Amino acid sequence: MSGVSRESFGETVSQYRGLHEDADVEKRKAQYAELVNQYYDLATDFYTFGWGEHFHFAPRYAHEGFLESLKRHERFLARKLRLYPGMECLDVGCGIGGPMRHIAKHTGARVVGVNNNAYQIERGQKITRRRKLDHLASFMKADFMNLPVEDGRFDAVYTIEASCHAPDRVKLFRELYRVMKPGALFGGYEWCLTDRYDESNAEHRTIKKDIEIGNGLPDLSHTSVVDAALEEAGFELVETEDVAETADEETPWYLPLSGEEKGLRAFPRTPLGREVTNVFTRVLEKLRLAPQGTSQVSDFLNQGADALVAGGKTGTFTPMYFFLVRKPEA
Ligand SMILES: C[S@@+](CC[C@H](N)C(=O)[O-])C[C@H]1O[C@@H](n2cnc3c(N)ncnc32)[C@H](O)[C@@H]1O
Repeated sequence: MSGVSRESFGETVSQYRGLHEDADVEKRKAQYAELVNQYYDLATDFYTFGWGEHFHFAPRYAHEGFLESLKRHERFLARKLRLYPGMECLDVGCGIGGPMRHIAKHTGARVVGVNNNAYQIERGQKITRRRKLDHLASFMKADFMNLPVEDGRFDAVYTIEASCHAPDRVKLFRELYRVMKPGALFGGYEWCLTDRYDESNAEHRTIKKDIEIGNGLPDLSHTSVVDAALEEAGFELVETEDVAETADEETPWYLPLSGEEKGLRAFPRTPLGREVTNVFTRVLEKLRLAPQGTSQVSDFLNQGADALVAGGKTGTFTPMYFFLVRKPEA
């Protein structure tokens, strides 16, 4: 369990919290690799328990299952990128590879997933081998800000809810531009503040801060910042849309966290299910069956989950600002 040793778990939790308690955003950005890695070392087991292999949200249709909506969201991206067999595509911040395996299997394109978290890669490689998908999906352990890849290698690039972890978006997008072929497409889903976010509103500011702490983010940005960063990096904007708006009214993207979803499988993600997990982690900690600090992780993930629901309900935040851009032909 977890990418942190039992002895250093409590210490890692304190370090992570310390990085967020410091009001200095620039300091958090400077330590982004540590921040993100610590977060995912701590949170990956909680994620797989509540979410499975696909660490992202989706705009769900009524009468559509949770997992099906996640996979449809991935296929939407694959279709926009026009992936087909023989192409090689980069998945930026690939988690344990749920989307990468689905997209590779669905399109026949080869997908290389880059991730900086060794624990997630280890878990992802085991699943990929078990599914006999190694010929189509592979992992690269690297910081996406500095890819060990030659110029112009990839036919397409996508990112799902991962570029929000970058300390400098323009720098990240320039790096992705560098490894793409001229004319190649880059698409993704970004975590963003929307036009409804009002910096002078204290409730909005609390939602933003709690989303950042609960999700390992240095600083959330507005959708316009993402567009500007893509253009500054040299891309041509093809399409942008907040696809949160495409969900049916009764099944918004935050439904899995809000407690309004029924069913046993959904239970661990609901507020009550998360509270039960929280009590359980405290008991395990007391019995010394889980490392000290486990319940604190559960606490800040819960706080982050409640803030995501508040961000969704107020419309001040979206985890699915879709963009499609092209690297110009040389
Ligand atoms: C919210 S998860 C999304 C994972 C995956 N895209 C999915 O949908 O299942 C964000 C991912 O980005 C990775 N990540 C964050 N910062 C990174 C960096 N600087 N370099 C490489 N991977 C990074 C994390 O380790 C994590 O796997």
